[in-house]
Amino acid sequence: ESGAHVPALVIGTGYGGSVAALRLAQAGVDVQMVEMGMAWDTPGTDGKIFANTTSPDYRSYWLRTRTKQPISNFLGFPIDKDVPRYTGILDAEQFSGIIVYQGRGVGGGSLVNGGMAVTPKRENFPGILPTVNPDEMYGTYYPRANAGLGVNFVDQAWWETVDCYQFARVGRKQAQRSGFPFVFVPNVYDMDYMKQESAGTVPKSAVAGELLYGNNYGKKSLQKTYLAQAKATGRVTISAMHKVTSVAPAPGGGFTVLIDQITTNGDPITTKSVTADKVFFAAGSVGTSKLLTKLKATGALPNLNGEVGKGWGDNGNVMCGRANHIWDPTGSVQASIPTAGIDNWTNGGVFAEVAPLPTGIETWASFYLSITKTPNRGQFSWNASTGQVDLNWQTAWKQPSIDAAKTIFDKINAKEGTIYRTDLFGVYKVWGDHLTYHPLGGAILDRATDNYGRLQGYSGLYVIDGSLIPGSTTVNPFVTITALAERNIENIVARDL
Ligand code: FDA
Repeated sequence: ESGAHVPALVIGTGYGGSVAALRLAQAGVDVQMVEMGMAWDTPGTDGKIFANTTSPDYRSYWLRTRTKQPISNFLGFPIDKDVPRYTGILDAEQFSGIIVYQGRGVGGGSLVNGGMAVTPKRENFPGILPTVNPDEMYGTYYPRANAGLGVNFVDQAWWETVDCYQFARVGRKQAQRSGFPFVFVPNVYDMDYMKQESAGTVPKSAVAGELLYGNNYGKKSLQKTYLAQAKATGRVTISAMHKVTSVAPAPGGGFTVLIDQITTNGDPITTKSVTADKVFFAAGSVGTSKLLTKLKATGALPNLNGEVGKGWGDNGNVMCGRANHIWDPTGSVQASIPTAGIDNWTNGGVFAEVAPLPTGIETWASFYLSITKTPNRGQFSWNASTGQVDLNWQTAWKQPSIDAAKTIFDKINAKEGTIYRTDLFGVYKVWGDHLTYHPLGGAILDRATDNYGRLQGYSGLYVIDGSLIPGSTTVNPFVTITALAERNIENIVARDL
């Protein structure tokens, strides 16, 4: 309610925000969470909460009148289509040189992501977060995050036999024939549920190709894990369809937070003003970076330091597809949940997820999302003439990622006598170098904040999401985001309450 005073306000309901809310509530603090996206708890016109990946509709995109699918073309045809403008679940946020995909709604990225729950190899950790003690992370916080997220492995004996992982078995065979290490990867999707889907005894979700626009069953999104636990404390309130636009010191202490309540057209209905003793920025790497950059530049939070907005990276994401021979079909039924990857980080700086391409027909395509080592980092800046925050990323900055991915897929193509698909990202375009699923950085730990996420320049302001991580996690990021949030909130609860 406008005029309210809350002890703790959390901006965003993704991984960082959910960890913060749960641990603060368990420590006896009342928490108000503010989420700009929808609650995603009510079925749509077809009786389902979420739309299928193969048939995007009004629920699928954040305030767009046309879909912006990561794979934009198929066999020469553009596949994007018009949809009604709506506060849908997937934001394809366009900056000058990159599209950043993000989840919108209660649960943040957990609503739309592949659920790959990967803990980085310990030997790589010092390169990811150099000022964080690896013993504590691997001894305490990674295990705590994995437990809290409900991480589980696929049953490998089952995986070997089912149609829906034919694509992954082809991926394994070809990786191994070229001498690359193939690894199984844990996930938060309930793998027992998937077995039942596959057997036809429960409604299908992953096996029906649901993913990018939400999973109706099986996926343990944050709504079912951290947020359910947080709500059960009785101390956490979540306001969906509310967007934070400003945070500034309040005259009597604490912070004045301005919040727009929005309609499903994205238009503000009312602006509310709330006073909060502590504010946690958990709006995601892009959301938090945009807010902090604007608030510093426009004088709402002038004491933030010069590191705000810096150190943003794409986790080296690059996509590609390969065309297999007729004797290597990848299956007309593909589970939307990835279970495996090619881990060549040590030798070539690439961790490539063997990804599904759930089209419902046989395509003979192998599809990969590579996470690569790249030196390039972008910076956010305030553009006073447009009133927007810009990001200076350039598409050409993906070249090191393409070069790294080629060390794997050129070799596999040579060995198999196959070629790249050139039809998935445009016409005669091999590399999906226009996007990232893994935005990281913009308020780097121990630079824009102290070593636990306390923003420099103010006491009572915190960053607790992917923006703390300097641009790369060497693997898919959400387990690291969650574990870091667990580490930081423990220190904050112990010292700042
Ligand atoms: P996150 O983005 O989750 O949450 C931020 C929340 O804040 C959002 O709900 C947003 O709407 C809200 N918000 C933003 N600005 C606001 C404002 N001003 N006011 C109020 N609310 C605001 N990772 C992984 O580890 N394994 C995987 O398999 C995948 N797969 C994958 C697929 C796809 C398609 C995507 C888009 C992403 C992935 N990811 C992934 C990435 C993963 O989802 C991502 O790293 C995390 O969700 C980031 O967590 P955060 O807590 O940083 O923010």
